Amino acid sequence: MIDGLRYLEYRGYDSAGVALLNGGLKVYKRVGRISELEKFVEGKDTDATVGIGHTRWATHGAPSDINAHPHVSEGNDIALVHNGIIENYEELRNILKKSGHIFVSETDTEVAVHLVEDIMKKDGVKLLDAVREAALRIKGTYAFAVVSKSEPGIIVVARKGSPLVIGIGEGELFVASDPYPLAKHTKKVVYLEDGEVASISIDGKLDVRTITNELKTPNIKTLDIEIAALEKSGYDHFMQKEIYEEPRAVEDSLRGRLYSVDGNVLNLGGLMEKENELLNAKRFIFLACGTSWHASLIGKRVFEELLRIPTEVEYASEFRYKNPIIYKDDVVFAVSQSGETADTLAALQVAKAGGATIVGICNVVGSTIAREAHVGLYTHAGPEIGVASTKAFVTQISTMMLVALHIAQQKKLVSEDRLHALIKDFSEVPEKIKETLKVAERVKEVAEKYKNAKDFLYLGRGYGFPIALEGALKLKELSYIHSEGYPAAEMKHGPIALIDENLPVVVLAPRGHLSEKILSTAEEIKARKGKIIAVVTEGDTSFKDIADDIIEIPATEEIFSPFTLVIPLQFLAYYISLSLGRDVDKPRNLAKSVTVE
Ligand code: BG6
Repeated sequence: MIDGLRYLEYRGYDSAGVALLNGGLKVYKRVGRISELEKFVEGKDTDATVGIGHTRWATHGAPSDINAHPHVSEGNDIALVHNGIIENYEELRNILKKSGHIFVSETDTEVAVHLVEDIMKKDGVKLLDAVREAALRIKGTYAFAVVSKSEPGIIVVARKGSPLVIGIGEGELFVASDPYPLAKHTKKVVYLEDGEVASISIDGKLDVRTITNELKTPNIKTLDIEIAALEKSGYDHFMQKEIYEEPRAVEDSLRGRLYSVDGNVLNLGGLMEKENELLNAKRFIFLACGTSWHASLIGKRVFEELLRIPTEVEYASEFRYKNPIIYKDDVVFAVSQSGETADTLAALQVAKAGGATIVGICNVVGSTIAREAHVGLYTHAGPEIGVASTKAFVTQISTMMLVALHIAQQKKLVSEDRLHALIKDFSEVPEKIKETLKVAERVKEVAEKYKNAKDFLYLGRGYGFPIALEGALKLKELSYIHSEGYPAAEMKHGPIALIDENLPVVVLAPRGHLSEKILSTAEEIKARKGKIIAVVTEGDTSFKDIADDIIEIPATEEIFSPFTLVIPLQFLAYYISLSLGRDVDKPRNLAKSVTVE
């Protein structure tokens, strides 16, 4: 269990705990990383063959030993772990308090275990039925795993909104929030659907049913994850490894799609079922959060440039509650590395209910968004463990570009020559990224120079603007330094007030039709003593006398510049955070996949 929790630690790492069934129920939990829990149980009795564990990303109640999961019942005979938010927890808690239940934590979750206990006692039912009944009374989202001293050989689970996977091993059964911890034990998994509960028992039985007690046949899938992909493989950090995997990741996202074995180009089998909707779309909408939202801004630019069809990018968390205008011939892309981000999932469901065609662009195979979408494409970046997204970002962009080129080809929206020139350049992108990785040492020097800055500004134009936003996000989420991204020309309408000799300004200036404009912005910064870190195309000397530091990247067509522009910014955030002693793989307060609102 400890080993399994380690594979899940990227999903939340502020406290952890386990409950072990062995004659009695033993619960050990500690604030902090899993390593703290390990230290805490040293020398304690952990002998057991049935148990549940949890690593937390706090929603209700600060990280503490008390608020850590598992939570136990009044009689200390039932333990429960939870991923999600119980929206009606106060109402349920007040009801339970009236029948004598005492609560020790500030969490919403503790209510669930007291509710299960109350139902078992009052209705005299078994654990599975009590969890089903409790699930019927709980509002909100949940993945629960529950054990009870009175039924020592089973674990009961339930799911609504938050992900849950069951692993079927040789003589052992597992449950987990995602498949990564299961990969080393089995390739046979069952993704629990919304509104399903299940019990796994020590004699290998798996019982899946709906919360209204309808029996279900488990839909067993085969896991395709290499263990090595879940390890650091000699790198110091997952983020560093994942940056160096970007050439291979983009290559894998293009394989069999840009050029298919039968000599065809732009073969996107995953979309065929909805090809008509895709080709007749009057509008495209991208729904996403975080880094996926920045990738979608690039997608929008590519779609509008190649297809001349209106394309919008929406923050999923805003879209889901704004009563959006949805047309039947809208095609909506739900873009998510994890495929489990609650806001993106809910926004997808709003668009789907509105009659739009949903295309999922996800990295995690079998994830909920991938299963909820009508059709979709996996980004094939491989497991991304570093909380700050890097390789998934570039494969999201390459996957969106494939879709745009596919539609442009099918609808003859670009000339044959241009199309083939684009395809040829696209096929060279992995090599260009490989070239760009060589900036690492140069960026490390720059990072050392500016690591104590209090603020940073990132400026870009055209395809560079979303990359400026992404660069600023990377620095924020990893180093905790306040940083903002802006369209370069927009600087003079406000942010220019921030500029003085203490403000480093990263200026993205690849050779292109806006180079002159970006140069004049840099002049304006220089005139106000700002420190300029310019990212320019190899051999371009126009910034020689203006910039304080220059980072050179290989030349590409403008439409492919995001792939090379983002690399130095990922390294800058990585090296500044390292030199400030931050945990680059697990930055404070973040989680790899936020499955709660
Ligand atoms: C955040 C992650 O929690 O969610 C970011 O820390 C990520 O890296 C964002 O970009 C969106 O996640 P996803 O999985 O929907 O792309």
